[in-house]
Amino acid sequence: MSNTEKPSYYLTTPIYYVNGVPHLGTAYTTIAADALARFARMDGLDAWYLTGLDEHGQKVAQEAEKAGVSPQDWVDSVAPKFLEAWKALNISNDDFIRTTEERHITGVQRFFEKMRENGYIYQDTYAGYYCVPDETFFTDEQLAEFDEKNKAEGQPSVSEDGAPLCPDCQRPLTFVQEDNLFFRLSAFQDRLLAYYEENPSFICPEIRRNEVVSFVRSGLKDLSVSRTTFDWGVPITFAPGHVSYVWVDALINYITAIGYGSDDPEKQAQFKRRWPSQVQFVGKDIIRFHCVIWPAMLMAADIEPPEKVFAHGFLLTKGEKMSKSRGNAMSPAQLCEIFSVDGYRFYFLTDVQFGADGSISLERMAQVYNADLANSWGNLCSRAFNMTGKYFDGLVPTLSADTAERLSKELGNPLASLAEGLYGRYAAAMREVDYSGALAEAKKLVDRANLYVEESAPWNLAKAATEEPAAEESLAFVLYNILEAIRIVALLFAPVMPETSAEVFRRLGLGDVFETCDLEQSVGWGGLPAGNTVEIGAPLFPRLKEDEL
Ligand code: MSP
Repeated sequence: MSNTEKPSYYLTTPIYYVNGVPHLGTAYTTIAADALARFARMDGLDAWYLTGLDEHGQKVAQEAEKAGVSPQDWVDSVAPKFLEAWKALNISNDDFIRTTEERHITGVQRFFEKMRENGYIYQDTYAGYYCVPDETFFTDEQLAEFDEKNKAEGQPSVSEDGAPLCPDCQRPLTFVQEDNLFFRLSAFQDRLLAYYEENPSFICPEIRRNEVVSFVRSGLKDLSVSRTTFDWGVPITFAPGHVSYVWVDALINYITAIGYGSDDPEKQAQFKRRWPSQVQFVGKDIIRFHCVIWPAMLMAADIEPPEKVFAHGFLLTKGEKMSKSRGNAMSPAQLCEIFSVDGYRFYFLTDVQFGADGSISLERMAQVYNADLANSWGNLCSRAFNMTGKYFDGLVPTLSADTAERLSKELGNPLASLAEGLYGRYAAAMREVDYSGALAEAKKLVDRANLYVEESAPWNLAKAATEEPAAEESLAFVLYNILEAIRIVALLFAPVMPETSAEVFRRLGLGDVFETCDLEQSVGWGGLPAGNTVEIGAPLFPRLKEDEL
């Protein structure tokens, strides 16, 4: 089936700020979206995975000035770092948008024109506090609430020079007084609430949905959507001197990347086909932008909101949100060096329940790596490939269908039984964006296969086979089952650990089918062709010793 005949499945990550390098937090969202994109492709959908960079705003302008370069040169020097990092993590994004690209700028301008045409933009004076590092406005109510909370906890809520601190990042806020354009966000309260009600899975998980609903119920204020005191942003066509507020500019990336605002009929067709998106991944820190402002902006421009926004939790190290400003971030590259790229991807998606906060540590990573990958999955493959080399000259054992059926009745086939219905359970978890749940299903087959090796003791069958041909048949049967379980696990692990699964497939003499296979059909029992050459190879996940950390 060609891609255009398959249902479109469009998924996105936030576009990241260029004020820093990729870190564990941004990599987390990017890996999670990647695993779902890969699963969708294997599951018969025409997935389109977008990520990119948020390159405008006051903070970028300030940093560039500090470095003595133009903002464009500044963002151009940072962008390759993200591209390299995502390549190193095996991210399979189909597009990469940068908000300084022409396709985006035109789209943002048209979007503003549309919101204005529909009566949702007006000019007024803004006077209030702004967090430059977070590019966020704070209302007096928000600051008063933060102040009260901090007083109760004995914490300061103003800096040494008396500036209020940002409730999110605790850095000093800047007072801004400007003539701005405003977006009539307040006009969307009822429509948003109705949308949440009619689309219960728009905001996931449930806890975030409740948070957003109660925030919107408490009333919405109009939002300042332009800035006039600097020019590093998208110029607004109908308001000379105004550039778009960076968050509004950034949110629109999800549609400009797929052709919104373009005059090219092909791009317009792509927009029609891809939008609304199926899943927008965000961290829980930015749900108000994505679940309140973004759908309201879309409604104001007569465009449907996305189908789902999935907000994951924070990665915490020693109980604190991991971030560059706190200096407690380990780099993805350093960790990949220790655990391999697949080991890294696996850890974050299996050990942290997606949607909740998760404490991460090197020690825990090593534990998970050694238990699940080195001792369990890697060891299963090594044993099975070695035994195939030793007992069957490196060929997948051949048995007639009749013999296999007879042995199945006589000896039982717990692996085939477990594999039955496995796709359904795995895919259901994946569709719920429950990576830990999906991986747990695959791990059950790994564990059962390891136990099956012990129970059926192929080495004893091999000894017996020298005297009785029946034992030779049993040995072939058992080993085929183990190799077949390995093939199925490799398929199920592929969205999370693509490199290792491709390697396992190669060693089993199978082609690289992950992008194009029909997962449901492929995980059906018995797909491994008898007679395939099996390569032993080096351990997939060498065991880590403590001194290697
Ligand atoms: N540029 C905005 C997003 C605009 S989208 C239209 C932005 N960028 S960011 O660089 O700060 O990235 C934010 C995202 O990075 C979070 O939403 C989350 O996806 C991820 N994370 C950053 N730190 C994180 C943790 N410590 N833990 C988990 N993810 C976090 O906000």
